[in-house]
Amino acid sequence: MSNKFAGKTAIISGGAGGIGFALAEEFGQLGMNIVIADIDQIQLAEAQQKLQAANVPVLACPLDVTNYQQWQDTVAAAHAKFGNIHMLVNNAGVGGVQGSIEETKLDTWKWVMDVNVMGVVNGTQAVAPSMKDHGQGGWIINVASMAGMNGVPYSGAYAASKAAVVSMSESWAGELKKHNIAVSALCPAFVKTRIHESLRNLQSEYKEVKNQGAHKTQAAKGNNKAKELVESGIPTSVLAKRVVEALLSGQSYIFTHPNFRGPIAYRSALLDAAFADAENSPIVSHLKDDEIKML
Ligand SMILES: NC(=O)c1ccc[n+]([C@@H]2O[C@H](COP(=O)([O-])OP(=O)(O)OC[C@H]3O[C@@H](n4cnc5c(N)ncnc54)[C@H](O)[C@@H]3O)[C@@H](O)[C@H]2O)c1
Repeated sequence: MSNKFAGKTAIISGGAGGIGFALAEEFGQLGMNIVIADIDQIQLAEAQQKLQAANVPVLACPLDVTNYQQWQDTVAAAHAKFGNIHMLVNNAGVGGVQGSIEETKLDTWKWVMDVNVMGVVNGTQAVAPSMKDHGQGGWIINVASMAGMNGVPYSGAYAASKAAVVSMSESWAGELKKHNIAVSALCPAFVKTRIHESLRNLQSEYKEVKNQGAHKTQAAKGNNKAKELVESGIPTSVLAKRVVEALLSGQSYIFTHPNFRGPIAYRSALLDAAFADAENSPIVSHLKDDEIKML
């Protein structure tokens, strides 16, 4: 099989289900060796069997992305089985629980930030050094969200975590370009997965999350709406094909829902208006002619 991916190796966190598994299938079909790593060991074994049945070379590793030692074990096992790693998909994530500012428990913030942000940091710290060293280049795909491109009322923790993923992707893209490693932020809107059932993956230390009572509030309506939107979302197989297409055309941001252009364009227009306002400000307008030195 001749394409850019064939014969190379990908590690996919959260690869046992949803978007992660669809990417495992798609990159497996393109001839990659696939390492799926997931907190759900039952689903992990099922996913491994399905990939094996499709003749995809696969390794399945138990992994809680918040645990750096487990990341190191995953990377060591991947090297032992397949050699160099060329692709990292930081996909594992949780949707949190919707709630107003005061309803959202600190444990909810910690859970969402630990999995969605620190999970990506851990994965990249565990994989990037050897990816740089082998010199063959590669890809890091960080699964963010449209929620990372705009705020989402009653989902502050989730939106903030995804904005952080976008920002890390932009930062690392600049840093890793000279190593021929392309970093992209995948920003889907709604995809039909089990993201609205993320509490099934809740680790025991985040005790208060389940006590977040948003039963009679706007947030409860939001939780129901989110479920509806996810269930009417695009199939994961469509998303996976779109990811390959966008990687091949070298996109830094991988968008899957062109119909979300309007709200994001509105945000861009607000940013532009804010610059225009600063340019007209007698306090700071003199800065507009100053040279900007970028890194
Ligand atoms: N489904 C959507 O509409 C949508 C939209 C935008 C972004 N996303 C993002 O896509 C990514 C994948 O989510 P999905 O929609 O496939 O949801 P999903 O719940 O179907 O799949 C998530 C996978 O991650 C695993 N996981 C959860 N916590 C983990 C942990 N601590 N360590 C390792 N694995 C863990 C789960 O076991 C599961 O296999 C997430 O980052 C999510 O935020 C989803």
